[in-house]
Amino acid sequence: MPFQPVTPVSSLYVHVPFCARKCEYCAFYSEASHGETIQRYVAALVREFELVAPDLRPHTVFFGGGTPSILNLKQWETILRAMERLDLLGAEEWTIECNPATVSGEKAKLWRSYGVNRVSMGVQSLNEALLDRLGRVHSREMVFKSFDLLRRAGFNNINLDLMFAIPGQTMDIWSATLQEAMALGGEHLSCYEVIYEEDTPLFAQLQAGEFSVDEDLACAMYEELLGRASDHGFEQYEIANFARIKDPSGPHPLALDERALSEPPRYACRHNINYWRGGSYYGLGPSAAGYVRGIRTKNWSNTILYCEQLEEGKRAIESREELPPLRRAGETAAFGLRMNAGWPFQRFQQTTGYDLRQEWAREISQLVAQDWAQVDAQGFRLTSTGLRFADAVAEQFLR
Ligand SMILES: C[S@@+](CC[C@H](N)C(=O)[O-])C[C@H]1O[C@@H](n2cnc3c(N)ncnc32)[C@H](O)[C@@H]1O
Ligand code: SF4
Repeated sequence: MPFQPVTPVSSLYVHVPFCARKCEYCAFYSEASHGETIQRYVAALVREFELVAPDLRPHTVFFGGGTPSILNLKQWETILRAMERLDLLGAEEWTIECNPATVSGEKAKLWRSYGVNRVSMGVQSLNEALLDRLGRVHSREMVFKSFDLLRRAGFNNINLDLMFAIPGQTMDIWSATLQEAMALGGEHLSCYEVIYEEDTPLFAQLQAGEFSVDEDLACAMYEELLGRASDHGFEQYEIANFARIKDPSGPHPLALDERALSEPPRYACRHNINYWRGGSYYGLGPSAAGYVRGIRTKNWSNTILYCEQLEEGKRAIESREELPPLRRAGETAAFGLRMNAGWPFQRFQQTTGYDLRQEWAREISQLVAQDWAQVDAQGFRLTSTGLRFADAVAEQFLR
């Protein structure tokens, strides 16, 4: 058989499983940091880079967590030098997630010097009492200070994460946070409705009846978000994600409708779009998921076990799964429908091998009839009501 060249994977996620303190609502795999474990993790991560590097030419890189910014300057130097040695630099988009309490000018400059060009900062709220309520380690002042410091280090693509429907958050508090966050002038916003994850203190408080969930207020807050985002020149391109379009060089030349099926807004997160479009990616670090050539993997959610495996020269993979093609196509459909642009039919077929119109004809016409979706010759996308209920829509596409 003739040799078939394999195209290297172009997307890389790295999980950093440490935080200064665990927030009340968070179920991501992370733990309060200990110096020795972090050192061991950094060495193991370098080993994992070495194992995958021959099959990796990253166009997008995302260091998430946990709190990647908690690593110190020396640990970052070790990681970045290893990436340089393994020819993993040069991504078009390279994001590092930060907590405002652990950003420093030196780290920011070091990241820039290796080509990191995007920072995503966990803010959640700009109300001091709510930050406290959520168990955040930073004040509102630290958000402004860190933002300024990142700008001075040369970051011109900054995302802020916010949360709404937090217990105790009134509409006035949410509006004020949105106003201040947008006035800061960042390029991107990710706004998440609180999810009550099992095994978190917030979930336990809800179960104990310490507060109740107000679904109507949550819906009103989402509406407020959509209104303010568009007033401030942000374009929604996914349920929770907004990219600034009105930069100083003027408004975007194309209206959303004309562009919706072709290209996302300039500051949209390319790395996440690759997930939603069913693309391949390597996931390194404890608990990280990966998807490479149809095979889904998940690393052990245990930092010590992760280190031990890599010290023995093996990847720390807990599970490998190859989904049946139709199941995978259904998942890909559901993910892509989270985006305002929905699915261009041709692109869906290229990605999955299935014709969306044919395979899900009944679901598509039902969703259009109830005004949750629109369809035309090019593609299928959810309306703003459909997007609000995207999780329920997703269920219908799974086979
Ligand atoms: C891994 S954290 C990112 C940055 C950093 N760890 C921090 O919190 O400062 C990713 C984001 O997910 C969101 N998030 C985490 N848990 C959530 C939950 N239970 N419900 C809604 N959003 C959540 C938060 O907005 C958080 O900033
Ligand atoms: S939200 Fe961020 S800082 Fe808080 S525990 Fe989760 S990962 Fe850590």
